[in-house]
Amino acid sequence: MISKTMESALNKQIELEAYASFLYLSMASWCDKEGLNGCAAFMHRQSDEERQHMLKIYHYISEVNGHGLTPAIAQPPHEFESINKMFEQVYLHEQKVTKSIHSLVELSNKEDDYTTLNFLQWYITEQREEEALMRSILDKIKLIGTGPMSLYYIDNEIQKINKAEMTAEEVEKEA
Ligand code: FEO
Repeated sequence: MISKTMESALNKQIELEAYASFLYLSMASWCDKEGLNGCAAFMHRQSDEERQHMLKIYHYISEVNGHGLTPAIAQPPHEFESINKMFEQVYLHEQKVTKSIHSLVELSNKEDDYTTLNFLQWYITEQREEEALMRSILDKIKLIGTGPMSLYYIDNEIQKINKAEMTAEEVEKEA
């Protein structure tokens, strides 16, 4: 059993993960429109991942006898200034999610809620990995620069990262 305060904080996290899923879906659609198919595939996968992060919390809340609430989701933007700006926005959003997970950890400690503390460990690792991934993408984009073929190279690089992530997920599933 979790406290009402913890239940409400976890429901807020559901909202944040749901928004991330919708934001990334919107980004995937924009990438498709811009002919950046590799980036679109990457963002679609990220969007699906965020939905899984959200569902994990629903299941956890039920498991500890609480009530997971389906949130209203704010309208995400549909247009993005550039691929660089779009990934900067992803990185910023991931940092926001990390902060929120850390606040949940703080609350678990405050409430001596070791069950939730244990549940959140997975998210701590996931956020570390997500932030590192986004930083590596931003570094790559910077390295490629803004030459005439830069969008083509960026898209190819993101496609490669996407394939590597998919393989890693499959290996994880089989383990
Ligand atoms: Fe579930 Fe990427 O935050």
